[in-house]
Amino acid sequence: MKILVVGSGGREHALAWKLAQSERVQMVYVAPGNGGTAADARLKNVNISDPLALAEFVKQEHIGLTVVGPETPLAAGIVNIFRDQGLKIFGPTKEAAQLESSKDFAKSFMQRHAIPTAEYQTFSDVKAAHDYIAQKGAPIVIKADGLAAGKGVVVAMSLEEAHAAVDMMLSDNKLGDAGARVVIEEFLAGEEASFIVMVDGKNILPLATSQDHKRLLDNDQGPNTGGMGAYSPAPIVTPQLHARVMREIIDPTVQGMAKDGIVFTGFLYAGLMIDDHGNPKTLEFNCRMGDPETQPIMARLKTDLVTVMEHAVNGTLDTIELEWDRRTAMGIVMAAAGYPDAPRKGDLISGIPAETVDCVTFHASTAVDGQLKVTGGRVLCVVGLGDTVKVAQKHAYETIEKIHFDGAQYRRDIGWRALNKKH
Ligand code: AMP
Ligand code: GLY
Repeated sequence: MKILVVGSGGREHALAWKLAQSERVQMVYVAPGNGGTAADARLKNVNISDPLALAEFVKQEHIGLTVVGPETPLAAGIVNIFRDQGLKIFGPTKEAAQLESSKDFAKSFMQRHAIPTAEYQTFSDVKAAHDYIAQKGAPIVIKADGLAAGKGVVVAMSLEEAHAAVDMMLSDNKLGDAGARVVIEEFLAGEEASFIVMVDGKNILPLATSQDHKRLLDNDQGPNTGGMGAYSPAPIVTPQLHARVMREIIDPTVQGMAKDGIVFTGFLYAGLMIDDHGNPKTLEFNCRMGDPETQPIMARLKTDLVTVMEHAVNGTLDTIELEWDRRTAMGIVMAAAGYPDAPRKGDLISGIPAETVDCVTFHASTAVDGQLKVTGGRVLCVVGLGDTVKVAQKHAYETIEKIHFDGAQYRRDIGWRALNKKH
């Protein structure tokens, strides 16, 4: 069977890598892919991005199944287009993807279905937004309604920052249409975790838990990024908390969407904030897997992913169980100089070692142009595996030491929360 993975990041490299391990797979195409997927003989990059053109390619090549990585094609309706043409694809429709593509949609959905989340209001009027901030005080969180490639959330610790964020989005239109409406919500304190499940329309299959590190610098300092490292499992998600999240957040979300007339299929990712008493609230939904969470999760998945995907598109996820490597997987992102504001392109990358049983390197913004080069912000995600968090971390950092590109930025403390818990 032939498979298509849509996207070009570390998440897509990890998905394609895992799919290609299946004995049932002849070829995994990646559109457009990156320097890592280009170098793997079992994968083939395809330089097509338009959904209609991709659907043509799928028919021409007799590709049996398509898996979509990023949110942009999902929000643009790639699943609707493929299904209309009778093609098998795993992901949410454009309507279902609103859970991620509109913060206002997600918030009013959660409110309507009593899903725990921060208190909020939505504004398009500048003065009303400023008044609300003055009334609520800081800290407070300002979110652009639409997709803003990770730049749409300002966690304002002061009133000054909060007012400035409103001006940036609503008055100065710095985020374009995405910031034409803003959600202003209560600041939640606690520890974050990523809770990702697969949904086939009615059945829900949870993946292994994980935890991301959003800030650029050690000790969770510096600007927000797409994610600088993630590990799986996340010890904060105890079996009790897992059951509670399923009961209070995931089940009501899938059922609530169905009640609202929108059948959810695809990966559903709830970004959780867990307070000091262990109570979870939903910070956001994504309708895709996380990046970099996917990389450690795929490194731990033992079950054949092609079989899992087939169950997902056929509506039979209730008939399988997933098997996980018992080890911890820790993915550490190496980012380009200047990331996240202005990543420098063109630096040469050297020294990536071959995959071993305890370390694998996934590519993101890389391309082979004579030599392997940096093409954007997040460049590589090095995933170490080990019996403990510490050993997984050691394996990842040993590999990072061998890799070189000028200006490489990476955090030295990925996994600190899990390490603290063990002591
Ligand atoms: P989001 O894209 O909505 O997940 O927001 C990006 C990041 O901002 C999250 O991962 C959190 O670190 C932070 N954040 C979002 N909403 C809140 C909130 N209500 N309280 C505190 N931090 C938040
Ligand atoms: N790592 C966070 C995300 O994918 O949204």
